[in-house]
Amino acid sequence: MGLMKFEDLFLILMTLQDTKPFSDENITVIDTDFSNIPVRLYLPKRKSERQRRAIIYIHGGAFTLGSFKMLPYDSVNRETANKLDAVVLAPDYRLAPQYLYPAALEDCISAIKFFLQDKVLAKYGVDSNRICISGDSSGGALAATVAQLLQDDPQYKDKIKAQTLIYPMLQTIDTLTPSYQTYKHGPFLSRRTAIKLACLYIADNNELPETILRNNHVPQESRHLFKFVNWSDFLPEKYKKNHVYKEPVLGNINASHPALMDNKVSPLLVNDSQLQRLPLTYILTCEHDILRDDGLIYVTRLRNAGVPVTHDHIEDGFHGAILFATAPLNLQLGLRVRKKYISWLEENL
Ligand SMILES: *[C@@H]1O[C@H](CO)[C@@H](O)[C@H](O)[C@H]1NC(C)=O
Ligand SMILES: *[C@@H]1O[C@H](CO)[C@@H](O)[C@H](O)[C@H]1NC(C)=O
Ligand SMILES: *[C@@H]1O[C@H](CO)[C@@H](O)[C@H](O)[C@H]1NC(C)=O
Ligand SMILES: *[C@@H]1O[C@H](CO)[C@@H](O)[C@H](O)[C@H]1NC(C)=O
Repeated sequence: MGLMKFEDLFLILMTLQDTKPFSDENITVIDTDFSNIPVRLYLPKRKSERQRRAIIYIHGGAFTLGSFKMLPYDSVNRETANKLDAVVLAPDYRLAPQYLYPAALEDCISAIKFFLQDKVLAKYGVDSNRICISGDSSGGALAATVAQLLQDDPQYKDKIKAQTLIYPMLQTIDTLTPSYQTYKHGPFLSRRTAIKLACLYIADNNELPETILRNNHVPQESRHLFKFVNWSDFLPEKYKKNHVYKEPVLGNINASHPALMDNKVSPLLVNDSQLQRLPLTYILTCEHDILRDDGLIYVTRLRNAGVPVTHDHIEDGFHGAILFATAPLNLQLGLRVRKKYISWLEENL
């Protein structure tokens, strides 16, 4: 199947499941715009003496697919609002290939900064000391990046109490980590598909995916970045198995793609002093996932930097599990992932 056909298929599957903003007995659900960015808000109906917690959820979809409207996302956000009696904000953002980096990130930041204004938080009864940023997969990349960027901004940095990252994609410079090698054929997300889709966000260049598949897409002058994702240093022994670390071969790539080396695409590419400032963190990794090691490396690096991290590893999990918690599949695995995420929020936010 060619890439476009594959994408179309996914797009159809994913839009078939689009939901309308329906309210239920406990939650008022509205679709609106924050700073011209479409968002869905889940607002508990119950009267509350005190201000509420809030969760910002950035959906996944390899930067090319997905929406807060998809049934699995609507369902997890609704349940979070219900279980925690919390406000949930789910922004959409412009997607590749139509919109390249940094469109997605900019949209997330605009919507989130709008929400974090004191007057907006007050309007929705949100406690500004109990706000979390969450995301899965590429949404996890966006959530991790937003959490990092807000630390540079005195107006917002104290408003993020926690970040929760569900099988996040966190780097693009080494695509031959042990998990990329072991699970290159999936399940669900193959190495080739992930790289092809992510490339659509990074650059309009047909040759780039092949270069990244060969893992020689980093130019000489960016070699120093490998130390941030060196799995030989950061992966617990049990995940290394019989893999032997080989530094990726430096490429002599024709076109320059600064986004590939940008920590706003790959949040693992920041130094320890930048990590130190990050809030309480929850990371969920799945064993059967090319992105497993991205998550595991972030767990180690954050802990090394002194950030408190809770890490759940789902031994029988695979990438995208949260998408399968709803009809028609209703997989137990998806429900378990959801439950772990929501329970952590319940106890820690
Ligand atoms: C509304 O909240 C009640 C009490 O927590 C719960 O039993 C019920 O299932 C909730 N309704 C929905 C639609 O989630
Ligand atoms: C990666 O880590 C190993 C083990 O600590 C070390 O020998 C190697 O030089 C490191 N490579 C890079 C590029 O950081
Ligand atoms: C660079 O471009 C030339 C001409 O299009 C091509 O032959 C060569 O394979 C390219 N090199 C890389 C590393 O992509
Ligand atoms: C970490 O990176 C930041 C931003 O690039 C830089 O200002 C700072 O000096 C670096 N710190 C160390 C210890 O390298």
